[in-house]
Amino acid sequence: MKPVRTVEAIQAIREACQVAATVLARMVDAVEVGVNTYDLDQLARKLIAELGAESACYNYRYQNNVFPAYTCISVNEEIVHGIGRLQRAIAPGDLVSLDVVVRYRGMIGDNATTVGVAPIATENQALLDVTRESLDYAIGYARSGNRVGDISNAVQRFVKPHKYGIVRDFVGHGVGAGMHEPPQIPNFGPRGRGALLKPGMTLAIEPMINRGGGEIKMLDDGWTAVTRDGLPSAHFEHTILVTESDPELLTFLKN
Ligand code: MF3
Ligand code: CO
Repeated sequence: MKPVRTVEAIQAIREACQVAATVLARMVDAVEVGVNTYDLDQLARKLIAELGAESACYNYRYQNNVFPAYTCISVNEEIVHGIGRLQRAIAPGDLVSLDVVVRYRGMIGDNATTVGVAPIATENQALLDVTRESLDYAIGYARSGNRVGDISNAVQRFVKPHKYGIVRDFVGHGVGAGMHEPPQIPNFGPRGRGALLKPGMTLAIEPMINRGGGEIKMLDDGWTAVTRDGLPSAHFEHTILVTESDPELLTFLKN
């Protein structure tokens, strides 16, 4: 059987993922009250360059729009693909989603996290915890012989008792030389369906979960997705490698 990816390609993705994780960790450390989201993005721009990588977001084209920033920074009711702004200073209680996608040695690494800024409302802390745990739970299903639907259903099953809204308009995806490769990985749907998972597949799994309904609205900038009801959203993402045994967490930062 033809391997899904060569060992060389997988090694490059592994390294790209470590770069993406390094940048994300530095951004997390920089989040504090008063810092504006433009400066957070600029910090990432500089670090990505220092590490010899490129932002896969900058100049990314979708329909007629060109993404103008180096990372996606989405605050509170912003779900994903927010653009850093000088006028947007981090405030107490904010939920700041940071999404870093880099290209390194020709390959992509993609990860995201949501940082809560103290003091965090109890309801918002619960949203963060459930969203992060839903990702960890779903990664457990990224195993050879399972199907994409097993990952999707794991997120949905985990979130269900909490009555949160699952965002359906954006999905996880394969990564390789391209940022969005097949298969698409929805955060809902029946188990046992969809593409068969095989060793060598590299997948970005990314639940986007809202405190209210799952419906979204696009801002006039053409990129920022916000919750229709204005309630906060959380987003966590890892790139993983499907193996013969346990999934390898490629965007887990090593040292
Ligand atoms: N992790 C996001 C995604 O997979 C990154 C998007 S970059 C952007 O969609 F350029 F589209 F904003
Ligand atoms: Co992604």
